[in-house]
Amino acid sequence: MQSNETLRAQLDEMRSKLLVYVNGRFVKANEPAISAFDHGLLYGDGVYEAIRKYGDKIFMLEEHIERLYESAKTLRINIPYTKEELARIVKQTVEKNALKDAYIRIIITRGYGKMGVDPRGCVEPTVLVMAEPREPIFSVKGVRAKIVSIRRIPQQCIDPKAKTLNYLNHILAKIEALESGFDEAIMLNEQGFVSEASTENVFIAKKGMVATPPLSAGILDGITRRVVIRLAKELGIQVSEVNLTPHDLYNADEVFLTGTAAEVVPVVCVDGVKIGSGEAGPVFRRIREAFETLVRN
Ligand SMILES: Cc1ncc(COP(=O)(O)O)c(C=O)c1O
Repeated sequence: MQSNETLRAQLDEMRSKLLVYVNGRFVKANEPAISAFDHGLLYGDGVYEAIRKYGDKIFMLEEHIERLYESAKTLRINIPYTKEELARIVKQTVEKNALKDAYIRIIITRGYGKMGVDPRGCVEPTVLVMAEPREPIFSVKGVRAKIVSIRRIPQQCIDPKAKTLNYLNHILAKIEALESGFDEAIMLNEQGFVSEASTENVFIAKKGMVATPPLSAGILDGITRRVVIRLAKELGIQVSEVNLTPHDLYNADEVFLTGTAAEVVPVVCVDGVKIGSGEAGPVFRRIREAFETLVRN
């Protein structure tokens, strides 16, 4: 593990060349550009999207923007741009930074305002768009996952379909997995069914068929999840959205995760239990190949 100083130097070096869009202008990425009194910072009061650009193509941009507006609507945040304007800002951000492959973030917070959770104290939403180069977060060789003790925040508290800035549930899950020597956390919901990983949706393959928890399990309606369901069906693989238990994961032929940061990656063991052969399986490999072809063509 590298030291904090080395990490800071690496990040500063990479970001010194980048420009970030903040409320109507582009500023240097490592210069402070938002107020300490921004409600995104004070309360995690905001929404976001993570998007990848592969070559010349921003992958599923419209779908991400659509989901962002839906999340903002649930939080009663009025994004001060049309969807088309925001899409243009995203494109400008990657162009200004001359990035071919990129990891993009759009962040909308409730904005600068008075202290206190009352949203009426805020002047106007803050809009941030940033992009940088980023490798997939896991090795395609395989992830060792732990079913953590912390449960997914239930729909009755914060609807997991809204992609908000409140990620403490996921962060605590990730910490528990890492502290136990695993790569990634899988959270169960309050009923004990599999929900999702810290920032990925979960799939299994068994007897050549694929299954994934339904949206009603309290998960983000992942855009990579939607793509993978579609690709699997196009490959003639039957896909069902059904509740899964830890038993289903342990006894699956294959388990894999999907997400913008992770892309599509196999899980080779869960709680130390080897999944299938303990390597990326054939269903995963077919879907991963179709995914790579889609994003690159
Ligand atoms: C909690 C959670 N689930 C699933 C995903 C995967 O969603 P997507 O494929 O849209 O990136 C993410 C992505 O950030 C996430 O945060």
